[in-house]
Amino acid sequence: MSSSILLHRVLPFSKRLIANTVFPGETVVDATAGNGNDTLFLAEQVGSDGHVYAFDIQQAALHATRERLGELNDRVTLLLDSHANVDVHVNRTIGGAMFNLGYLPYSEDLSIITKPESTIMAIEKLLGLLKMGGIITISVYDGHTGGEEEREALLAFVKKIHQADVHVIRYELLNQRKNPPFLIALEKVRDFQTVRFIEEL
Ligand SMILES: C[S@@+](CC[C@H](N)C(=O)[O-])C[C@H]1O[C@@H](n2cnc3c(N)ncnc32)[C@H](O)[C@@H]1O
Repeated sequence: MSSSILLHRVLPFSKRLIANTVFPGETVVDATAGNGNDTLFLAEQVGSDGHVYAFDIQQAALHATRERLGELNDRVTLLLDSHANVDVHVNRTIGGAMFNLGYLPYSEDLSIITKPESTIMAIEKLLGLLKMGGIITISVYDGHTGGEEEREALLAFVKKIHQADVHVIRYELLNQRKNPPFLIALEKVRDFQTVRFIEEL
């Protein structure tokens, strides 16, 4: 990552946000392990005293992630479960979380994709677990079948989150070809366990 660039592409930008807010020794979540790129990054961020919980619903993804992690496997719990069940597996404060939506790259079955209901459920639960000042990054791909539906549901959901609880940004490069992802990032700015929504006030 070049230090002279400020307006990074989406994936490096999401890592920069996490690198600035996650500290050694913390617990973090990779909500979509996939081929393990973000899991490895998170394992490096939390160091030998920290821990990563990495979710995926495909065994092939967890296998690829295990291979990618190499010596850092002992910092990571790989979970063959939906991120919507994060509260079943993680019951402590987390320093941050990352999502990378869509399908598993290079997979034989590209029809296995993240879905709006489980993505939104996971985000809501993760916000409750997140430390004050912590960030959740969501890289959103909308070029595949089902991607547009997830994008719209997600945007509608995050726009309803109360501004006193969470700051929400959308970040994207406007001059890239081939359906690049955009980023949604959420920063917890009030200490809460249950996030409030605008319509509830
Ligand atoms: C774009 S890939 C993730 C890429 C990954 N971050 C990487 O670095 O390679 C999306 C992943 O989300 C997984 N997925 C889909 N629905 C899921 C769910 N409900 N819970 C957890 N993972 C899910 C897919 O199996 C797929 O591996």
